Amino acid sequence: MTLEQAPSVAAETDEELTRETLEAEGLTFTPEMTLSERAEELEEHMMKRMSKRTAKSVIFTSGDLDPTEPAPPPADPSLHVLMGDDPRLPRMPKAPTLQDFFKYRFSPSQAHLLQSAALALRNGHDEKIVMACLLHDIGIVGFIRSDHGYWGEQLVAPYVDEEARWAIRCHQALRFFPDDSVGYEYPEMYIKLMGADYKVEPYVEEEYKRARNHKWYMTSRLITLNDLYSFDPNAVVDIDDFTDIIGRNFKQPKEGLGFDGSPVAHMWRTIIWPTKYL
Ligand SMILES: [Fe+2]
Ligand SMILES: [Fe+2]
Repeated sequence: MTLEQAPSVAAETDEELTRETLEAEGLTFTPEMTLSERAEELEEHMMKRMSKRTAKSVIFTSGDLDPTEPAPPPADPSLHVLMGDDPRLPRMPKAPTLQDFFKYRFSPSQAHLLQSAALALRNGHDEKIVMACLLHDIGIVGFIRSDHGYWGEQLVAPYVDEEARWAIRCHQALRFFPDDSVGYEYPEMYIKLMGADYKVEPYVEEEYKRARNHKWYMTSRLITLNDLYSFDPNAVVDIDDFTDIIGRNFKQPKEGLGFDGSPVAHMWRTIIWPTKYL
């Protein structure tokens, strides 16, 4: 990650940090530094700048590091730990809406969600389906990849129709199983990504069987049919294009996502404050 590729940063004073500002403070990139060395240097500089230290959650580094081994020691153990806003991230409103998460926390791969929802709309599906398409990979774009259908369902469960949340969970399994009756084929992309000999785990197959016989099967299947990465590479879709549909199909809590005391509020807070120490 170069500084240019780093996320835009809003510090306490909401000043925009530029490379010049950081270099004037002592941040140095030398030509021989690798990208990861630059990223580390930038991270260390930002830590010093905020006078706090963060410790990465086990789940953030598990895989890159063996989680059963001791974590690397902090660069400066004398600093207090971070217990609130991370100044390296865009500041979120006090009572954030779903759209705020798209704008301030979700990755650029949210374009896939916007395109899927736009395609569902173009295909004439009702708003429940469009909403499910808009949220189907929310687990990936905002939280965690592994078992994204399940995480995604839980994130939105209190706020959307029960059928839509069920469909979000099951699309993960249905994506692996063709359905000739509606023209859904095993994705070419999965062959590229996982290899031609990849077989799903038994729990995915069990989920598929349950979903196949469920009364809402077609709702989840419609997600997979609109689950295209770029149906129109030139289409520019913005989350604000869906304001009305979200308004009618997503019960935004007045306290903001993360602060409504719901059983999933902590998940939204973790997205707001991913580096909070406790
Ligand atoms: Fe998915
Ligand atoms: Fe998807």
